[in-house]
Amino acid sequence: MVATGLLDPAVERFLVETADARLADYLEFLRIPSVGGMPVHSGDTRACAEWVAARLRTAGLKTVEISETARHPVVYAEWLEAPGAPTVIAYAHYDVQPVDPLELWVRPPFEPRVEGGRVYARGAEDDKAQLHMHIAALEALLATRGRLPLNVKYIFEGEEESGSEHLDAWLEAHRDRLGADLAVVSDGSFFEGNIPAVGYALRGLVYMEIRVSGPAIDLHSGVYGGTVENPANALARIIASFHDDEHRVAVAGFYDDVLPLSEAERDALARLPFDAEAYRRQTGVPALVGENGYPLLEQRWTRPTLDVNGIWGGWTGDGPKTIIPAWAAAKVSCRLVPNQDPVRIFGLVRDHVAAVTPAGVRSEVKLINIGRPAITPIDHPAAREAFAALRETFGREPVFIREGGSVPVAASFQSILGLPIVLLGFGPADGQAHAPNEWMDLANYEGGIRAIVRYWERLAERGEELRRG
Ligand code: BES
Ligand code: MN
Ligand code: MN
Repeated sequence: MVATGLLDPAVERFLVETADARLADYLEFLRIPSVGGMPVHSGDTRACAEWVAARLRTAGLKTVEISETARHPVVYAEWLEAPGAPTVIAYAHYDVQPVDPLELWVRPPFEPRVEGGRVYARGAEDDKAQLHMHIAALEALLATRGRLPLNVKYIFEGEEESGSEHLDAWLEAHRDRLGADLAVVSDGSFFEGNIPAVGYALRGLVYMEIRVSGPAIDLHSGVYGGTVENPANALARIIASFHDDEHRVAVAGFYDDVLPLSEAERDALARLPFDAEAYRRQTGVPALVGENGYPLLEQRWTRPTLDVNGIWGGWTGDGPKTIIPAWAAAKVSCRLVPNQDPVRIFGLVRDHVAAVTPAGVRSEVKLINIGRPAITPIDHPAAREAFAALRETFGREPVFIREGGSVPVAASFQSILGLPIVLLGFGPADGQAHAPNEWMDLANYEGGIRAIVRYWERLAERGEELRRG
C-alpha cells in the first residue's frame, strides 16, 4: 500500500512509466553471479562492478569510478551540485553469498523468477535490490528535475559478504573525498510482519578457525585406540566448554565490555510487536533456545554469541573407516555488541582454547576476519527523518530496530570518517538471505525507491541541523 500522495507527482509518474523497464534491469543485475568470496567468480564480480558503474552513468551521473582495492573494486560515484545542502554517503554491496545447496533452489539462483509479487534469486534481497533502488531513486530525480535535493556520494562495494577486508584501507586512502554529514547503509531488512524499520545498531563479528591435531597420520583405531587422544574427541570437548548450562558463553572476560542496555531501550524493545511462536515456526526448530534471563529480541540484537559454523575431520564418506583421525577442525564465530573489540575477543577465545585443550593433542586458533559492532542514537535527526520517510511511503507506523547481522563498514563510517549512520534496509524480514530461494518483495522494492526519494528531500530540509551533527 504505497501512499503516494506526498511524492512529487512528476517523480511518481516517471516511476510508474518506467516500472517494467526497471524490473527487467534489476533482473539483469541478478543474473550476474557476483559471488565475491569465491575465486572462480572473480571475473563475474568484476563484471558486476562494471555493470553497476555503467548503470550509474545511464542514470545520469558523470562522476562514476571503478576504484581498485586489493581485491574487488569499489564502485564510487557522486552528485555534488547542491551547494549548501547536506552530503550523504549511500552504501550498498554488489557481491552476493555462495548458492549451495543448489538442489534446494526451485530455479537456478542466477535465473531470477518473478512470482506472487516476489523476485527469487541469489542477491534478490541481499543486497542487489537495495543497491538498485538507490540507482532507481537517483535516476527518477535526475530524469524529472535534473537534480537531487542534496549531495550524494555512492559507495557500492564487492567484498561485504567476505568481510569487507579491504574497505577500511580504501576509506583511509580516499578520506579526502569522502567528507559527508551522514552515511546511509542500505543492507538490511524490515521488521517481522514486514513492518518498515529504521535500524540503529549492528552486531560485530570475529571469525576464527580452530584446528586440533595429534598423530602424524590417521591411525588404525583398533591398533592405537585407547592409547592416544583423538583430535576429533578433543575438539568436541573444546567446543563443549564454550557454553555453560545457562547458554552463556563461558570464555573468561567475554562479557567484560558489553554495554548494558538502558531501561528506555529495554522497554522499547519489549514493546515491539514480536510473535516468538511465528518466529520459531519460520526457523523450523522444535524450541527456541538462548542465553537465560534475556528476552528473545535482546538475545538476538543486544547480546554477544559464540557459534560453530562448521566442523570437519576424520572419515565422513560411505561405510566405516576405523581411524583415529590425525586432525579435526571447526570454524567458529562470535557476534559482538558495543563495546566489544573483535581483536580482544579473539585473544580471549584463543587463550580459552589453549587452556582447555586436553593433553595429547595440539590446538591452534587462527583469525579469519573481523567486523566491529556499530550503534547510533535514534534521536539523531537523520534517524527521525528516515522514520518519517518510511511512514509517509508505506502508510504504516515504522519501528526502530537493531540488527543481529553485521555490516563491517558501518563502524568504519563512524570511526574513520566520523559520521553518524542510519540503517535504511528494505528486505523482507523472512527473505531467506544467504539461503536457497532468497527473495525480495516487489512492494518493498518499489516503495523503498519512493522512500529514498522522500528521505533525500527530508534530509535536505534539515540541512542546518545535519551539518551541526
Ligand atoms: N546484509 C547482511 C547483514 C545483515 C543481516 C544486516 C541481517 C541486517 C540484518 C550482510 O550482507 C551480511 O550478511 N553480513 C555478514 C558479514 C560477514 C560476512 C562479515 C554477516 O552478518 O554474516
Ligand atoms: Mn548484505
Ligand atoms: Mn549478506
